[in-house]
Amino acid sequence: MTDRIIILDFGSQVTQLIGRRLRELNVYCEIFPFDKCPRIDGSVRGVILSGSPCSVRDADAPDVDLGGIKGNVPLLGICYGAQLLASKYGGEVEGSLAKEYGRAMLTLIAPSPLFEGVKSRSQVWMSHGDTIAALPEGASVLASTDDVVFAAFKFPGEETYGVQFHPEVYHTEEGLKMLSNFALGICGCRADWTPASFIETTVASLREQIGDDKVILGLSGGVDSTVAAVLLNKAVGSNLTCIFVNNGLLRKFEYDTVLESYKDMGLNVIGADASEAFLSALAGVTDPEVKRKTIGRLFVETFEKYARKIENARWLAQGTIYPDVIESAGIPGIASKIKSHHNVGGLPEKMNLKIVEPLRMLFKDEVRRVGRALGIKDELVGRHPFPGPSLAIRIIGDVTPEKLHILREADDIFIKALKAYDCSSMDFPSSSDPSRKAVNLYDATWQAGVILLPIKSVGVMGDERTYKNAVALRAVASTDAMTADWFRFPYDFLARVSDDIINKVPGVNRVVYDISSKPPSTIEWE
Ligand code: XMP
Repeated sequence: MTDRIIILDFGSQVTQLIGRRLRELNVYCEIFPFDKCPRIDGSVRGVILSGSPCSVRDADAPDVDLGGIKGNVPLLGICYGAQLLASKYGGEVEGSLAKEYGRAMLTLIAPSPLFEGVKSRSQVWMSHGDTIAALPEGASVLASTDDVVFAAFKFPGEETYGVQFHPEVYHTEEGLKMLSNFALGICGCRADWTPASFIETTVASLREQIGDDKVILGLSGGVDSTVAAVLLNKAVGSNLTCIFVNNGLLRKFEYDTVLESYKDMGLNVIGADASEAFLSALAGVTDPEVKRKTIGRLFVETFEKYARKIENARWLAQGTIYPDVIESAGIPGIASKIKSHHNVGGLPEKMNLKIVEPLRMLFKDEVRRVGRALGIKDELVGRHPFPGPSLAIRIIGDVTPEKLHILREADDIFIKALKAYDCSSMDFPSSSDPSRKAVNLYDATWQAGVILLPIKSVGVMGDERTYKNAVALRAVASTDAMTADWFRFPYDFLARVSDDIINKVPGVNRVVYDISSKPPSTIEWE
């Protein structure tokens, strides 16, 4: 049985980071909404209570029954979690005392296994309105900041801790050390969560779950569905059939190159070319949401048409990853963002298929680590994310074959230039593996593409006045696409791409660079 830590989510923006940081330590953990705490069996070595946008002083503040947890297994409350521990067990939480946002200096006051090897003064990240004014009886203070006396505390005679700051946030200098002390030291977890162990246990459990049944999977060319396909292929071999839909909106040559690379990998792939159906359904459509819905509907129809040809299919495999699972679960009573990732909605019930999602417990960076351990080419593992509605949402306004042609050519120049620019002497981390430096600008950016704008502008080429399209370049740095910053390219790179696009793509005479961050903007323009 794998040791695990349970994280109860009270709705903080950074709960996922707690999970990521523990997984970085090779400790297996799972995140549950605070009101869906699983049974505390022998595999649970510790529990963490997350932060929250709520106040424990609210009448309907989210709460959890800690009966079988506190005193039985190690427990760590973070921010709201710490305040909940304080207020539930006789301490006091007030709203009117010092509020702290941002960086603060933590000073250790008493020795504790939680702070083993941590500097006596170090920077931490705070984000709280309420403050703990009094600790429960017998609890002792372990660390303070200038403004917050009870920045870390421990209950007597049990491994229950509270910290007012966020150890999971990168700005907390010694945060990883503290989480490591909790998970590996206090909880005694084994650090056995590695890509190799994941592959071994997942392949075995897929074999048991699926047996001799047939499975179908929709490949997108992206990292998640590719890794899911290779894992399933390892488990059930030729009983897996993959379907790769050409929606007519892919990048230049993408359909053929990706299809070819899948065949090289020994996957059983059917190419479903439905370009014409997609393009005719999109004709004249300008509203982004209508574009998305049209593409989603056609995708399901196309997939269904081909899936029906596979006799006796019992399972539909999907490349769902952990952030999709957590976001879809939502936290009751607390505002939650629900991402509508259009997979093949409606199909499972219609075709009487059961769902199998081998990556549903992995974060994106872990999917990539697993992909590498499976021997998938870096070219595929390191691919940028690409939206399901493809280039349709990068053409502002209606989609026509002519506009698609212009966009494909400009996009191809941009992406090729990113791959060709050696930046190994610069200080950019690789976006697909932040532990190393990026080798080129494609590797350094999380995602990049061109947007075809619905405006024309005046230019001069040779001796002639031109009146042609403008395109925008978009490139961001990010770790999960939830937030993103525009990428600081060297000027010489931007200059070269701009020249190349204007000189080589008929129909374009102006290139602009999008310098908006997310939030408040988004990565895509539609
Ligand atoms: P935004 O534009 O919301 O995008 O900042 C965040 C990430 O999601 C991708 N994206 C989509 N992916 N279907 C998808 O499968 C969509 O409709 C869609 N819209 C955006 C986007 O490319 C980025 O990686």
